[in-house]
Amino acid sequence: MKQATPDFLALARQYPTSFDLRDRARRLMPRFAFEYMDGGAGPVDLGVRRNWTALDNVELAPRYGKVARPPSCEASLFGRAYSAPVGVAPIGGPGTAFPGAETYLATAAQTMRVPYTLGVLSGIDVEEAARIAPNVLWFQLYRFSRNDHQIGLDLTRRAAAAGVHALVLTIDTPIRTVRPRETKAGILNPFKISMRLRLDALSSPRWTASLARHGIPRFASLKPYLKPNASLEETTEFIRREQGGAFTWDEIALYRDVWKGPLVLKGVLHPADARRAIDMGVNGLIVSNHGGRQIEALPASIDVLPAIAAEVAGRATIIFDSGVRSGVDAARAIALGADAAFAGKSFLWSLGALGAIGPEHYIRLLTEDLRATMGQLGCPTVADLRSVNRKHAAAWPGESLQG
Ligand SMILES: Cc1cc2nc3c(=O)[nH]c(=O)nc-3n(C[C@H](O)[C@H](O)[C@H](O)COP(=O)(O)O)c2cc1C
Repeated sequence: MKQATPDFLALARQYPTSFDLRDRARRLMPRFAFEYMDGGAGPVDLGVRRNWTALDNVELAPRYGKVARPPSCEASLFGRAYSAPVGVAPIGGPGTAFPGAETYLATAAQTMRVPYTLGVLSGIDVEEAARIAPNVLWFQLYRFSRNDHQIGLDLTRRAAAAGVHALVLTIDTPIRTVRPRETKAGILNPFKISMRLRLDALSSPRWTASLARHGIPRFASLKPYLKPNASLEETTEFIRREQGGAFTWDEIALYRDVWKGPLVLKGVLHPADARRAIDMGVNGLIVSNHGGRQIEALPASIDVLPAIAAEVAGRATIIFDSGVRSGVDAARAIALGADAAFAGKSFLWSLGALGAIGPEHYIRLLTEDLRATMGQLGCPTVADLRSVNRKHAAAWPGESLQG
């Protein structure tokens, strides 16, 4: 049966902001699933709140009196045209938020022409994602280092064969962290589907119905490297054994040799790391503190963005993430030197709140809010945001990031 086209105008009236989606997701989702996607580092989610507060404190001042032109959000990243400078950050296990998440995110991104970064720890493999989102697919890798990166380099070749546009290497997870809200919600390490999680899942009929449709997520891209029919527990044990640590510069050079397309480092928080990456041929940097999920003392990524942008000086594409909840946040990041802004948690809120149609609704919200912000600030193009007057008192001065 063909699905009716969602009424996005009605959705925009009912859920006009990402926080409306978050509230609904909190009500509808199993608790463990909400706590997994929403929680941050530290006892009071300080990592997450720091990102939000830092963005809230960036002010953009308009100039008036010019003849207004309707703003265009069109953006170009690594030579490819997108409808807006916003995109989906890589998420490990997004099916926890809503089973089938990867399919829905990929479909929405393809329809709306914005980048979708498939995480390596996903329920569909890179080949399937490329079938769904052939024009907008990026692929993120964690470090699988055994046997001279046999798995990581094989995944890289598969991504190239599938037509992935940009390869993203995440460098900001040198350690595995445990987030208190996950622990308290019963997510065990090593992972196990306990009776508590089963009962929790049953409290959410829509979530369980989607699980019945899509099955338990199995990190599909890793299937060729696992024993046949590996259980979820065996798969997570395999990941614990095989994956970990942060890519070293020598390892990044190895991937630079094998991957011929745009190469992006994710998790850059220091201008000197940005410089070193560019010197070795990296094309893009994601300025990110992993959405405040690693340790709570990391700087808000918006506060280090200006120093990094000054160092990069146009020699690489800069993507911003960590804390983006709206088109205004995207505008703030672009004003401070980013070429685009990606979001993680707020896309998961959209899935938890609205299921399959959530991501497209949220991309529409982001884009419309960005367009309105550009209109208010008198910016007909995304590039014009760069010259908007801004106040950003908490920015890290470049000199305090030396060495
Ligand atoms: C549930 C969850 C899982 C994540 N998994 C990954 C991952 O597998 N790889 C990765 O590079 N980043 C991962 N991230 C970080 C996101 O890519 C992104 O940096 C972050 O979510 C941005 O901050 P925001 O959530 O405030 O938008 C994850 C984030 C969340 C919320």
